[in-house]
Amino acid sequence: MITFASAVDAVGCGVVVQQQAARHNARHPEAEALGVRVGIHTGEPLVNDEGRLFGVPVVIAARLCAAAEGGQVLVSDVTRALAAPRRVHRFTPLGERVLKGIAEPVAVAAVDWAPEETEFALPVVLAAAAAGPLVGRAAELEWLEGLWAEAAGAAAAARRRVALLAGDPGIGKTRLAAALAGGVQERGGLVLYGRCDEEPTGPYQPLAEALDPYVAAVPRAELRQQLGPAGGVLTRVLPRLATRVPHLAGPARLEPETEPFLVAEAAEGLLVAVARTTPTLLVLDDLHWADAASLLVVRQLARGTAPAPLLVLGCYREPDVGRSRVLAEVGVDPRRPGPVRHRTVTGLPAAEVAELLAVLTGQAPPDELVGTVDAETEGNPYFVGQLAGNLVEKQLARKVGRVARRARSAGWICAGCARSWSPGCWSCSRSATGPAARAPTPKATPGC
Ligand SMILES: Nc1ncnc2c1ncn2[C@@H]1O[C@H](COP(=O)(O)OP(=O)(O)OP(=O)(O)O)[C@@H](O)[C@H]1O
Ligand SMILES: [Mg+2]
Repeated sequence: MITFASAVDAVGCGVVVQQQAARHNARHPEAEALGVRVGIHTGEPLVNDEGRLFGVPVVIAARLCAAAEGGQVLVSDVTRALAAPRRVHRFTPLGERVLKGIAEPVAVAAVDWAPEETEFALPVVLAAAAAGPLVGRAAELEWLEGLWAEAAGAAAAARRRVALLAGDPGIGKTRLAAALAGGVQERGGLVLYGRCDEEPTGPYQPLAEALDPYVAAVPRAELRQQLGPAGGVLTRVLPRLATRVPHLAGPARLEPETEPFLVAEAAEGLLVAVARTTPTLLVLDDLHWADAASLLVVRQLARGTAPAPLLVLGCYREPDVGRSRVLAEVGVDPRRPGPVRHRTVTGLPAAEVAELLAVLTGQAPPDELVGTVDAETEGNPYFVGQLAGNLVEKQLARKVGRVARRARSAGWICAGCARSWSPGCWSCSRSATGPAARAPTPKATPGC
């Protein structure tokens, strides 16, 4: 039995329970289908010395539960009358029922609910990053996969994890996060992604960016449950909440000093609830540009103890971790073990630079070239990519040059203006003489 201070919250909970059961059944067609019965009544029960509720209202709720079919939420008319004016849920009256042990028949209604299966796509930034090649990084991926397994492996042992990936610009932090995210998504996990910009678009930017698509798409009743009583403060971060969850009470006035702490706690509460619904990977990228309030949220996520299958992965540029602002504000001392796992991503070894060059240029690079690129880039994949791009362009230019030379010598291109040849090229005012004049079948273009 669960008790609520509000009838609409109780009905919302019943609906979410049914939606979760429906989701479970849809995802596990091989398993025996869950059929959950829910009965809800509103009244003034008695409380015994141990704080347990008893009396007629409790009996009515139990009898409604027993009378429900699997997948049904039955409510007494008292509950319906209290919840209906809020227009969050719809009800179908079922008439009066005689309930065992209750003197008067009770008017009963069924809550109309529908399964809401929401598919969350991989966030676009990660999907784009994941589309490119991935060379090497077996150890880093194993580390990340291990963290995910710790966070979301066996549901009973689920423990949230917070991890930070540091490294030079272009070293491959986002690419690694994308590789992990792809696997998480495939295994039915939820991936949220938010990043910071050098010119922030507002406070809590990564959190807002990560949660807004979720808030926009998740079923309202589920969202309401996940927000809990303290969730109203999140309208500061996620203005969309105000329209998605009507009557969400936020504090009328917030002191600037206390707001970040309340937001951090509420964000933690929401993320824990979201992860308990679907194991969640939250990627917060480019944290070196994060505002202090966003880093406080990461700190809160690292320190909080409520278990949930949640992995928070922060990426930031900070080659010198000894003097890192991100680590200081998240409360991490890299020399001591703590709740936050930390790893610095370094350059690819020469063999993988060679592999990446081969993937990007489409041919095995000579050893000398690999040595030069490795030395110039220190194995930074971004710079390897830039050099490979230049190489491909140069090769292309060389190829085009060769083709043009051949075409000229075959007389297909006017040697003077390099356009396709025709006798008496007036584009460059040359008469077609010399090798071009002997062209067997000139391909004339309108301008030549
Ligand atoms: N292991 C890899 N194999 C192949 N390409 C890679 C690898 N790692 C990174 N790249 C490529 O290198 C480029 C830079 O990678 P990425 O954006 O992940 O770097 P970053 O560390 O996140 O940089 P920044 O600090 O600027 O955000 C991208 O084009 C990415 O696809
Ligand atoms: Mg990045």
